[in-house]
Amino acid sequence: MKHINIAIDGPSGAGKSTLARLLAQELQFIYVDTGAMYRAVGLYMARAGLKNHDVEGIVRLLPCVRIELRYENGMQEIFLNGENVSRAIRTEEASRWASDVSAIPQVRAFLLDAQRDMAKKGNVIMDGRDIGTVVLPEADVKIFLTASSEDRARRRYEELREKGEDVVYEDVLRHLLDRDAQDSGRKTAPLRAADDAILMNTTGNTLEQSLGALRAVIKEKTKHVV
Ligand code: DC
Repeated sequence: MKHINIAIDGPSGAGKSTLARLLAQELQFIYVDTGAMYRAVGLYMARAGLKNHDVEGIVRLLPCVRIELRYENGMQEIFLNGENVSRAIRTEEASRWASDVSAIPQVRAFLLDAQRDMAKKGNVIMDGRDIGTVVLPEADVKIFLTASSEDRARRRYEELREKGEDVVYEDVLRHLLDRDAQDSGRKTAPLRAADDAILMNTTGNTLEQSLGALRAVIKEKTKHVV
């Protein structure tokens, strides 16, 4: 049986992961957060004491990285060499590292097969930056989610504050714009909407409104009963 693949791409803070996770629960699909995989690679390199511009060093250590996604009560937990790093990867520093390592072609190639394998195993909703363009170009539904940078930074800021990180809104906005520029400007698999992606702008939306809009698109495209 062919599995249904739903690709959700877009810049940081557009609401991809929250929406994808909720929809996956509703539809009983597997949720794959590919950003978490880049974050785990970055965390490994930071802990190994490397500098983020040390491409050679990062590539040399890649074979030491083992990433596993496990699902507990429908929630994705990410393990780095056997350690649950689901929380450790959510800091501002880890975001910076993830963006830096994700620009390295060898890192992308290293994660690509694992991402494609997951899509073969079942119905998935996968979110990231290059899912509709590179990882799953044949996905049944492709959505490119955006929102104004202020809205995205505000969401990220609130998330970080809730987790107890001592951050300033202006810094969060600046870092987010830096990462967007880096993710969109890189040579390999840059952040961009696939030609056949449906563009959705969530600026000013409540979670329920965005969820409703996404649900309608998925229903229309897959005729899946949701
Ligand atoms: O979605 P996120 O913020 O957790 O992603 C962290 C970084 O990983 C982001 O700066 C871009 C990169 N990334 C990527 O290049 N390709 C993906 N499919 C997912 C994330």
